[in-house]
Amino acid sequence: MTQIFEGAKKTDDYIRVAQLAEVQAAGSLLVHKEKHTIALFYLNNTVYAIDNRCPHMGFPLQGSTCKDGIVTCPWHYARFDLASGGTFDSWADDVPCFPVEIRDGEVWVNLAPPVNPHTHHRQRLQDGLEQNISLVIAKSTLALLDMGVNPTEPFLMGLEFGTRYNKAGWSTGLTIHTCMMNLLPYLDVEDKPRALFHGLSAVANDSAGAPPEFVVHPLPNSKVDFATLKSWFRQFIQVRDAEAAQRCLVSAVRSGANSKQIADMLFCAATDRRYLDIGHTLDFINKALEALDTIAWQAAESILASLVSGLANASRMEESNSWRYPVDLVAILESAFEQLPTVLSVGKSQQGSWSQPEELVPILLGEDPQAIADSLLNALKAGCTEEQLGIM
Ligand code: FES
Repeated sequence: MTQIFEGAKKTDDYIRVAQLAEVQAAGSLLVHKEKHTIALFYLNNTVYAIDNRCPHMGFPLQGSTCKDGIVTCPWHYARFDLASGGTFDSWADDVPCFPVEIRDGEVWVNLAPPVNPHTHHRQRLQDGLEQNISLVIAKSTLALLDMGVNPTEPFLMGLEFGTRYNKAGWSTGLTIHTCMMNLLPYLDVEDKPRALFHGLSAVANDSAGAPPEFVVHPLPNSKVDFATLKSWFRQFIQVRDAEAAQRCLVSAVRSGANSKQIADMLFCAATDRRYLDIGHTLDFINKALEALDTIAWQAAESILASLVSGLANASRMEESNSWRYPVDLVAILESAFEQLPTVLSVGKSQQGSWSQPEELVPILLGEDPQAIADSLLNALKAGCTEEQLGIM
């Protein structure tokens, strides 16, 4: 039964919406008032008022089954406490519930928003991340952006969640999350929420079922200088002592090391060994630093600490059989790295005159590692720039 109740008057924040007798007779009644469509229910001598739109996918709630004080939406069976609007199915969200007063046989409803929408949608995003529910993440992201919230706010929420609730540390999800944030300035307005959602969902997926991470505190009142912290950090990473390394890193952040120093500390430790985790470690460090630049280095200690486990526990290619046998690739690389400073210095004076020899690409695509290293060094010595080498 639908009723448009005419002649409503405002008293305080309450508006008159129906006659009590009508609600009693109907059991449940629909009223439209001030852009709201309200479902009234009469139960145990009490009138309840909830928003008629099921927060899951919008099915009308008026006329839904109401048993033992629980309203059940007939579409996907989300259940709501009639008195508070709170749901028992977190994928559906709470339904807005309005205070009711009975005055002289009339039903009066307070339509003031029961909760701050910004706080509500932030909480819903947190719920979606915690329970890894894509629909909740999508709806809350859309709602926050629609309200004009800066995208860095949900981005930061994803970073804090992903670094806190995944003991394995920074991984693919947080990398995707940062890539999506980086893309945002180049996307059409309608595509921005989709990109953010994609990143947030990847974070929630990575954290689903994972134990949380408790970041160690910095050294107390530390007077240790940055060079010493960096040296300790590299040493602890070498022996795979993630906890000790983490303490050095957060101490460096707390004592005011700047972004370049922190990047230097991380990349030095990552390149002390050959090609950690086939390059993923370097990529993860890079993305974490980009993420911090986006949010002005908020939450830097916990975000950076999430990199340490990956650094300490990464597979090291020099320890793998395939890099040592039948050809010792590490020995070839060590020799090439020794020659590099001299080669670059000789080649610098000839830059601009180098042209790519025909045989170079077939060698690079071939299967002789020593020949590949020699060809690259020869090219640099002949004036090829690092950039030219990189795009070959
Ligand atoms: S629309 Fe109500 S449960 Fe899905």
